[in-house]
Amino acid sequence: MTATTTAAAGVRVAALADIPPGEGRAYVVEGAAGPTQVAVFHHRDGRVSAVDAVCPHSGGPLADGQIDSCVVVCPLHLNTWDLRTGASTSGQAPVRVHGVVVIDTPDAPDGPQVHVTPAP
Ligand code: FES
Repeated sequence: MTATTTAAAGVRVAALADIPPGEGRAYVVEGAAGPTQVAVFHHRDGRVSAVDAVCPHSGGPLADGQIDSCVVVCPLHLNTWDLRTGASTSGQAPVRVHGVVVIDTPDAPDGPQVHVTPAP
């Protein structure tokens, strides 16, 4: 799923419930440097992570990759990146780590909302 939203900081991209635990989704987020494709992951323990959605190896869709507590595996060639630092754990170029928070807004009918701040 891809959505385009705009704001100066902390762009709402989805309801947390729209990202099943253990999975990721890709969004296009308008940041200071223009539109950025961001992969947002909803960890099984409730945490969220956000990194570049486009794999630096050969353009694979990182949001479709498998995750564990801190690593994403690209589905195309199985290279891996640390979701906390963006560093590759398999010798590839790094990905950027984007700011992501979950805001529980009482008036949101679909529950807590995921907000992303793209890295510069
Ligand atoms: S495209 Fe992601 S590892 Fe090759």
